[in-house]
Amino acid sequence: MNIAIIGSGYVGLVTGVCLASLGHQVICVDNVKEKILKLKKGIVPIFEPGLESLMREMMKKKRLTFGFSIKEAARKSTAIFIAVGTPSKKSGEADLTYVENVAREIAASMDSYKLIVEKSTVPADTGNRIKRTIMLNLSKSDKTKKGKIDFDVASNPEFLREGSAIEDFMNPDRLVFGVESKKAEMLLREIYKPIKTPIVVTNINSAEMIKHASNSFLATKISFANALAQVCDRVGADILKVAEGMGFDKRIGRSFLNAGIGYGGSCFPKDVDAFIRLSEKSGYHFNLLKEVRNVNEQQKAAFLQLIEDKLWIVKNKMIGVLGIAFKPDTDDIRNAPALDIIRALQHEGAKVRAFDPQAMDQAKKVLKGVGFCANAYSVAKGCDALLLLTEWEEFKNLDYQKIRQSMRQPLIFDGRNMLHEKELSDSGFEYYGIGRGRVL
Ligand code: UDX
Repeated sequence: MNIAIIGSGYVGLVTGVCLASLGHQVICVDNVKEKILKLKKGIVPIFEPGLESLMREMMKKKRLTFGFSIKEAARKSTAIFIAVGTPSKKSGEADLTYVENVAREIAASMDSYKLIVEKSTVPADTGNRIKRTIMLNLSKSDKTKKGKIDFDVASNPEFLREGSAIEDFMNPDRLVFGVESKKAEMLLREIYKPIKTPIVVTNINSAEMIKHASNSFLATKISFANALAQVCDRVGADILKVAEGMGFDKRIGRSFLNAGIGYGGSCFPKDVDAFIRLSEKSGYHFNLLKEVRNVNEQQKAAFLQLIEDKLWIVKNKMIGVLGIAFKPDTDDIRNAPALDIIRALQHEGAKVRAFDPQAMDQAKKVLKGVGFCANAYSVAKGCDALLLLTEWEEFKNLDYQKIRQSMRQPLIFDGRNMLHEKELSDSGFEYYGIGRGRVL
């Protein structure tokens, strides 16, 4: 099928590349010229394992192209996926300006049937608003048929995670089709035909809610684990064992129960805010989610308090940071808890050195006064404390003996519970994890 993807950010690009690999003819569009020029050269502007090679393969097979013009892309495609950004307004509400603009442009260029699929995370009822916008603007392009061009709007939320985006796209737990006609459902079934997974077919508003509900539930699970971790520390329990014990219960499951310094990234913080706001506007005060957000903020504050407590005087201390990205296997630092933690320590007068395997370029743009190092060993040298803030696999296998010897004080704060407490303690470190039963 000929498919256009409008918006070549994280979701748009992964969707485009993966749909091409399913056998479709895909054109990805973006209004940022430099981005498209890079993509045309086969360069992916973000770090996502496997994406660049698959993209180049699809370009070589001539199944994937890039362009600037929505009009051109929309004209030659049967299905048009909207994957533009939905940033947060000050109120937390999603800003849908880009979605509206794209809908208007699609309408102005439509000359035959189109299936318009919303992929961006949007508040419930956005699909209906897209439909209305298209109706209102359609007649402009449709001089001969007098506004009678047929089209469908559908919601097909994406659940992919950064760092495993291709795998998540190709092997999803489910597909969700929010549709209003059999034709739209059949087209979506055809698009995803090679993917074998349960398909939930529903109306557009329910599909939009599924996305909100899933992300908010996952954020709730993380905050629940983080709140538990706080209690674990106070009563001498170990959150790792508690999560393991809970996780075997099939009704609960072990995933997303990792306590740490809180969730970050481009989705959870923004989506939780947007859902709280959406609920509020609808007349329901989703206090449970407000508390999820509070717990997430408190987690960073508690971590900082612990560091200050153990370090005694923070001012002029040298603090080493391992990991800045909001999670491993990505160079994304949007809402990364590491940023807040680093800035707060600097505010207290600490000097900070840092290393991240992929996110250094991004971090240099937003962090001032940080000494960026070439590797973990240079970070640790002469430090009064070492913080592990992103659980990159390579940090597991460092020579911690060597690190301890090079540090001024053997203090290690593991914000992701990734390191082996006993081994580190045995080799002379004072180790602090999150919720490991410190008994405060
Ligand atoms: C998330 C959703 O998982 C995905 O379905 C949706 O489409 C987009 O948002 P992503 O933001 O890429 O994906 O990453 P994810 O792996 O879900 O992690 C989000 C944040 O939660 C990270 O900061 C991570 O460190 C944190 N996290 C995750 C925890 O603190 N504990 C956990 O147990 C799991």
